[in-house]
Amino acid sequence: CGRTNSLEPLKVAVTGAAGQVAYSLLYIICKGDVFGSDQPIHLHLIDTPAKVDVVNGVAMELADCNFGLLKKTVATSSLDDGFKNVSVAFLVGGSPRAAGMSRFDLLERNVPIFMEQGEALDKFARKDVKVLVVANPANTNAFICARHAPSIPVENFTALTRLDQKRAHALIAKRAGVSVSSVRNVIIWGNHSSTLVPDATHAKVELNGEMVSAAVAVKDETWLKGEFIDLVQRRGEAVISARGSSSAVSAADAAADHMRKWVMGTDPCEYVSMGVISDGSYTAPKDVVFSFPVTVRNGKWGIVNGLDLDDSYLNMIAESGEELEDEREAALSVLRGCNVNCK
Ligand code: LMR
Repeated sequence: CGRTNSLEPLKVAVTGAAGQVAYSLLYIICKGDVFGSDQPIHLHLIDTPAKVDVVNGVAMELADCNFGLLKKTVATSSLDDGFKNVSVAFLVGGSPRAAGMSRFDLLERNVPIFMEQGEALDKFARKDVKVLVVANPANTNAFICARHAPSIPVENFTALTRLDQKRAHALIAKRAGVSVSSVRNVIIWGNHSSTLVPDATHAKVELNGEMVSAAVAVKDETWLKGEFIDLVQRRGEAVISARGSSSAVSAADAAADHMRKWVMGTDPCEYVSMGVISDGSYTAPKDVVFSFPVTVRNGKWGIVNGLDLDDSYLNMIAESGEELEDEREAALSVLRGCNVNCK
């Protein structure tokens, strides 16, 4: 009657573990929906000292769920303990944007956090750790984190744009009157910000048993090049204004999807959007974390090459790239201040 499982537990760190995104994400991980239904898990739940009591409460709830895969839970405010030997890190915690705060203010608060997390990952995590940054500004936080973890390949640091891709799929499915599972391969280019570029040019939709282009499915190319783009770009803000706080369950679900594809691989003919270190493909600037369409094999992502893009998309890609270069320069100037003043 007893079942044995010979797989070694996978050590998974989640920062911001007391927060709303983590609350949903942890449930998805523990159910086996990210790493597989036979993969045992050790969870390392990390948050600030003021929130460790809340994290302990979350750990109690996870125990009460009786997840068979959850073999051990550590709740800590120490990055050294939290990142020790982890194979996966979801970096969910950051300083959130308050009303009236500019993007630079947000960077100024988050750069020291991601510098410190990069340094701790460098010292304590496995060298093949897969890092997904969810906290905003996610692309630049991922860039800063990677920069402070020189012993870990830069390819192992990614930023979440899967949420934008899922938003795009939902909008197209609704417009075409099909189920969302019928839509695939909308691309998100660039930054996870209002400059992101949702591109349905190469997307496919299953309509009456046939695969057709998104333009055919929605019967309105003008919508795809106009309102659709705006809706995806503004969806995060729309959720904030409706809920009074930023996306939580959808961000968690997208983070789980991102990591699942990174670990398990993409399906044939499928690509997914991930913020990854740019090699300059599609005229994107190099040396920023930029969202591209990728396929994944054996745990390694590769940018999909050779897609045709018309000038309107290339112009939008350039704009989002410029924003990321500005963020990078702003982040580096914060770091220079940090090095003088904080260390
Ligand atoms: C989202 O896309 O929902 C969030 O990244 C928005 C935000 O600023 O928190």
